[in-house]
Amino acid sequence: MSVEEILNKESFSKEDIVLLLSSNGEDRTLLFKKSSDIKEKYIGNKVWFRGLIEFSNVCGKDCFYCGIRKGNKNLKRYNLSDNEIITAARFAYENRYGSIALQSGELESSAVTGRIDNLLHKIKELSNGELGVTLSVGEQEPEVYRKWFEAGAHRYLLRVESTNRDLYSKIHPDNKKHDFQRRLDCLRSLQEIGYQTGTGVMIGLPFQTFNDLAGDLIFMRDFNIDMCGMGPYIEHADTPLIKYAGTLLPLKERFDLTLKMIAILRIMMKDINIVAATALQAIDPIGREKAVKIGANILMPNITPGKYRDSYKLYDNKPCTDDSAEDCQSCLEARVSLADAEVIYGEWGDSKHYEKRRRGAEA
Ligand code: 5AD
Ligand code: FES
Repeated sequence: MSVEEILNKESFSKEDIVLLLSSNGEDRTLLFKKSSDIKEKYIGNKVWFRGLIEFSNVCGKDCFYCGIRKGNKNLKRYNLSDNEIITAARFAYENRYGSIALQSGELESSAVTGRIDNLLHKIKELSNGELGVTLSVGEQEPEVYRKWFEAGAHRYLLRVESTNRDLYSKIHPDNKKHDFQRRLDCLRSLQEIGYQTGTGVMIGLPFQTFNDLAGDLIFMRDFNIDMCGMGPYIEHADTPLIKYAGTLLPLKERFDLTLKMIAILRIMMKDINIVAATALQAIDPIGREKAVKIGANILMPNITPGKYRDSYKLYDNKPCTDDSAEDCQSCLEARVSLADAEVIYGEWGDSKHYEKRRRGAEA
């Protein structure tokens, strides 16, 4: 079957997706044209901001790919004070960002549960309930997720990283803290509690095949996710996976593959929120804008206080670690207009998919 024929199908099979991921030349242009038309039709040429606050790089886990893993001793650990977090949230509110995203390394403890609960209440208070809050603080017990939901968090991002269990076990230690099934259970409980639930994968991991990536997209469709954040895998010198650096696809190909994953997902799930991941920009200076053009609709300007940014290095060559929040905003705004899109201020920018899913559940 030709790429053109596949693109006209109602629903893609795994084989179709593998073919689309391998497309080049005119076929690739057709794929991007289709995804960008769908974005325009279902979402418009719009982008919503989530002000990203990377509030701590302390992590209890040891994922083999991640620069802030517990085992990395070449890293200064930090933890923002509540005041610093609140100040960043106020910046987002005053600049009419619809939402913020609170992200950190993974820790499970009653102290962390209580702290985030308290922060959520404060953030809701300072913004008259107007600022939307996405959490991205990893695997937690269902009652913890519920507590935070009740305190006002309404979106949660938990990347599954890879849905191929074998691959998952190659990029994580083999122990209870890094259990694939728990990751799935967490995603399910987030969805049941009522969060807009987001997941995503890394693209271009060692050992990863196009078949794996096609499986990841099918998982997202079958799981009925509301949001997706996926980006290229970028090696980090102080992690165990660095020993496979020689086996990876060239960075430019990982980048291109990420754009194709975004485009295919946009065609498969027309009304979900898709983030243009920061890791794209580590490879191409206008990488995120390219993603916006072919299907992404969410950008996450970094509003973490500048002095900490250098320490939240998940991968090498992370961009914008010297900028201030103001720099990030004006830079992104200019960039978004380059992608012929418009930033929408003062709105949550919820995924329409979520509204439909909830309505369906009530009916
Ligand atoms: N390259 C790209 N993305 C990474 N992440 C962690 N380490 C890397 C890396 N080396 C991503 C993971 C995680 C998110 C916060 O950052 O997908 O879920
Ligand atoms: Fe922190 Fe994986 S290393 S969650």
